[in-house]
Amino acid sequence: MGLVLKLESLRAGYILRSLDRNRVIPAVNEVSLEIRDDEIYGIAGESGSGKSTLLKTMFATAIEPPLRIFGGKIYYYVQNKEIDVLTLSVQEKMRLSWQYVSYIPQGSMSVFNPIRKVRTVFLDFLKSHVKEGEEKLLAVATRHVKALGLAPEVLDAYPHQLSGGMKQRLAIALATLLNPRVILADEPTTALDVVAQKAVIQLLREIQRESKNTIVLVTHDMGVHANIATRVAIMYAGKIVEEGSTTAILKRPLHPYTKYLIDSLPRIGDKHVRESVPGNPPSFLDLPSGCAFHPRCPYVQEICKREVPQLVNVNAEHKIACWLERR
Ligand SMILES: Nc1ncnc2c1ncn2[C@@H]1O[C@H](COP(=O)(O)OP(=O)(O)OP(=O)(O)O)[C@@H](O)[C@H]1O
Ligand SMILES: [Mg+2]
Repeated sequence: MGLVLKLESLRAGYILRSLDRNRVIPAVNEVSLEIRDDEIYGIAGESGSGKSTLLKTMFATAIEPPLRIFGGKIYYYVQNKEIDVLTLSVQEKMRLSWQYVSYIPQGSMSVFNPIRKVRTVFLDFLKSHVKEGEEKLLAVATRHVKALGLAPEVLDAYPHQLSGGMKQRLAIALATLLNPRVILADEPTTALDVVAQKAVIQLLREIQRESKNTIVLVTHDMGVHANIATRVAIMYAGKIVEEGSTTAILKRPLHPYTKYLIDSLPRIGDKHVRESVPGNPPSFLDLPSGCAFHPRCPYVQEICKREVPQLVNVNAEHKIACWLERR
């Protein structure tokens, strides 16, 4: 299976400027991962673990201040050619954005301008990428919206006339207009009721099945990953601490942090009280030494306080960064 995107020891984050000194928020810390053709790659983790920042680094044109890359590499694989994204000019990045990789930011329901009809937003987007007359472009938009199972009349609506779920589906429709190889979706189901969540998951799944492209899906909701992801990466304090096939992650989670995340999933008919992760996530301004999870870990050993465990394979399809697995 081919690659579509690769990160190598990527470090990224934000610089907070204050009067006396600048402080760095290392929201993505030494992340390496490979995203493949024709898969749904899930990224999970608690609020503030760096999921959105990691996803932003994968969208070339989203890498702009305050977000900064401190080190490492980002590669795209366009027509079998490896492209070093961080060396591209602004124009080259713009050319690849939306056509090769598209991005649905967190809270993207609000991308629609309240005083403009949805169709105007779609038309403007198309006009900036395709040289065609308005009529043809409107036909493209209508065909796409219909193909996604949405009523074409939604194009004539103003955003306030649509439900949150419909706006989210339209944001997905907009991001997939140019049939990109990779779709980056940040929390597309969050803030929706269960019915609307299902419709969004269904839509993403159908787009992926139909076009055989790749979706990178960020959500803190492990239930959504269980439903739709091919593989899942678990993030903690800016690092990937476990990665594997969704089945492996759900059935045989190895990292103590992953175990808590899986345990907090509701199960039908099960009445016992679920344990949530004890304690609070650390601050990026004051990360614990060694394994950042060690102050919250029930299995902590001396080495965990001193040395950072690397992400290593336990088998071909399962990786973990934990000293427990190294004995
Ligand atoms: N624009 C920004 N400027 C400064 N710091 C930021 C900015 N965006 C995020 N951060 C900080 O970076 C860290 C990681 O945030 P990020 O949004 O990537 O987390 P997340 O896992 O997506 O969280 P959530 O689940 O709440 O969306 C946090 O400490 C956050 O406060
Ligand atoms: Mg986020």
